[in-house]
Amino acid sequence: MSLKDAVVLVTGASRGIGRAIALAFAREGACVVAAGRDPALLATLETALREQHPQSWTAARDLTEPDACEQLVESIVTRHGRLDILVNNAGIATAAPVEHIRLDDWRRLLTINVEVPLRLTQQALPVMRRQRSGRIINIASDAALRGIGGMSAYCASKHALLGLGRAVNEELRGTPVRLTTLCPGPVTTGIMGPGNPDAMAPEDVAAAAVLAAGLSDRSFVAEMLLQPTRLG
Ligand SMILES: NC(=O)c1ccc[n+]([C@@H]2O[C@H](COP(=O)([O-])OP(=O)(O)OC[C@H]3O[C@@H](n4cnc5c(N)ncnc54)[C@H](OP(=O)(O)O)[C@@H]3O)[C@@H](O)[C@H]2O)c1
Repeated sequence: MSLKDAVVLVTGASRGIGRAIALAFAREGACVVAAGRDPALLATLETALREQHPQSWTAARDLTEPDACEQLVESIVTRHGRLDILVNNAGIATAAPVEHIRLDDWRRLLTINVEVPLRLTQQALPVMRRQRSGRIINIASDAALRGIGGMSAYCASKHALLGLGRAVNEELRGTPVRLTTLCPGPVTTGIMGPGNPDAMAPEDVAAAAVLAAGLSDRSFVAEMLLQPTRLG
């Protein structure tokens, strides 16, 4: 779809991959709604986004709160009359051997990494079906495709996100609305602690998201595994 003036919601946009994705869509001329929790980081981002598109804005909220996802999509549709692209990027990671995973950590991780994308998808799809166009891009991980010792909760959440996307695409078969699951390998952000210098940059993932969203309506990327040249 044409990204010029497209209304794009990016979650987890205050930093890391989400911030790079928000800025990359803005550079394409999109009207970006960037969601995260840290108001100071979002304020700086909003200035940068508005330089590219004056209608862009940021939304500081914890998406795990009751009704937060529903209200966010509702306010976008009220303000702009549409939602063209949803990027489910917000996510967290925890590291612990399986015997030591605390149930409250497991539930929080599954809530942010899987339930929030589900709730946003449930809100966005009726809007996109009505428009007869739309793209959902879920930022999973290569952990959706393999097991990583010490990260079983994270792997389970990303496998779940991939499975959710595959099933949603079956439900969307024959419609112009489609979903992409993007599975990046290691990226230099704060999520996993000190990064590997050979990992990818957030901008590499952002470029892949823009590529997937910007294809013509005749085609879509269902799944993309993105690996660092030096590690892949
Ligand atoms: N980095 C990697 O190596 C890598 C590789 C593959 C996939 N991924 C995936 O890429 C996505 C982004 O990761 P990242 O590395 O950019 O992580 P990051 O730098 O830690 O950023 C995470 C983002 O998610 C937001 N977030 C977390 N919990 C939230 C909540 N409850 N409500 C709203 N926003 C929330 C954070 O907002 P605040 O900062 O405002 O709290 C932040 O903007 C994640 O889904 C991750 O699993 C990362």
